[in-house]
Amino acid sequence: MKAIPLADGVYWVGAIDWNLRDYHGYTLPGTTYNAYLVVGKNHTALIDNTYPGHEFQMMERIKDVVDPKKIDIIVANHVEKDHSGALPMLTKMLPGVPIYCTQAAVTGFGKHYDTAGWNFRTIKSLEKVELGGKTLVFVEAPLLHWPDSMFTYLAEDKILFSNDAFGQHIASCERFDDELGKEAALEHARKFFANLIVPLAPKVLKKLDEVTKLGIPITVIAPSHGIIWRSYAGDILSSYLNWSKGVAKNKVTIVYDTMHHSTDLMAQTLAEGIMAEGVAVKVCLLKDGRFEGTHRSNVVTEILESKALLVGSPTLQDEVYPTVADFLSYLHGVRPGRLSAKKIGFAFGSHGGQGGAVKIITDGLKKAGITTINDGFEVLYKPDTAELGKCYEMGRDLAHRVKSM
Ligand code: FEO
Repeated sequence: MKAIPLADGVYWVGAIDWNLRDYHGYTLPGTTYNAYLVVGKNHTALIDNTYPGHEFQMMERIKDVVDPKKIDIIVANHVEKDHSGALPMLTKMLPGVPIYCTQAAVTGFGKHYDTAGWNFRTIKSLEKVELGGKTLVFVEAPLLHWPDSMFTYLAEDKILFSNDAFGQHIASCERFDDELGKEAALEHARKFFANLIVPLAPKVLKKLDEVTKLGIPITVIAPSHGIIWRSYAGDILSSYLNWSKGVAKNKVTIVYDTMHHSTDLMAQTLAEGIMAEGVAVKVCLLKDGRFEGTHRSNVVTEILESKALLVGSPTLQDEVYPTVADFLSYLHGVRPGRLSAKKIGFAFGSHGGQGGAVKIITDGLKKAGITTINDGFEVLYKPDTAELGKCYEMGRDLAHRVKSM
């Protein structure tokens, strides 16, 4: 297995997980666990490692460059097991090897592994380690993605090892953005951001501001998942800035499920009203999520670039449909309300008795930080002509509001 050079003495030595299809409720076409080897004149550092069970690829790639026993510094940017799973094996192979990480990571590792005898070196922001012609600079990045997270910057080569930040879940032959293509790389990064980073958006803005003020020149961004940004580092930085601010298109996402096509009729008619005003719409039937692009993790990716969200459900035994409950639970976790630019929305649905789903959805939208512009629209049984006319007008009115945001 081959190591892939990023710069003189700097190599990608990660593992490609071709088969992963679901990760924390997120659908993905595989992923990579990126590890990096930095070979200085005096020391050799391994930055991050792999998920348990994927050590083989990493070790074979390291052997392509050096004898793994020559690694005399380990950098652990993040506790989560997809980046630390090889530490038990590495600490056994390299007894006493210093592990550079944050204080929060020491606590985290102690909860995941038997760390007796591990040689932790806790870092503070801007502390340096000299490898001999290669200088590692640490930058604490709490909550990007866990409280223990940090970045590592390689000064001479201007490479930022950013761990989860700027990552993408993709398994591919390509290691670099210009090999995969800018649009595809940004699309995968957008899904990653929409599902994992949106709740942390205020921290992203603060950290980007901090890094800018440090005046650290960044030529390459090497995250812990997916491709490495070497040609489009500026594009992913500006995309993170825009996504964190909640910059969105004149677009509405409609998410719903249906029992006897009544809520479906409402969704279609709302979409017609929105389109009539020249606003884009994406209609996502949750029932199809297991077959097509309306899995919850794809729906929240659509929501990231939408200014409005409509959620529909029939009432089933005084509750929302199970698929809609699943979606709302996921949406609460993602919390698009954390973005600076607010999103608007409302609920709709049909019922065969007392109703109730629309009230539950309206409360759910508020909990997720969506600004509800009305109390929703709920119809008995099947929407009649007048009720469908109201749906159409509600769609038009929403489109007007979207265009003025
Ligand atoms: Fe890729 Fe937070 O782990």
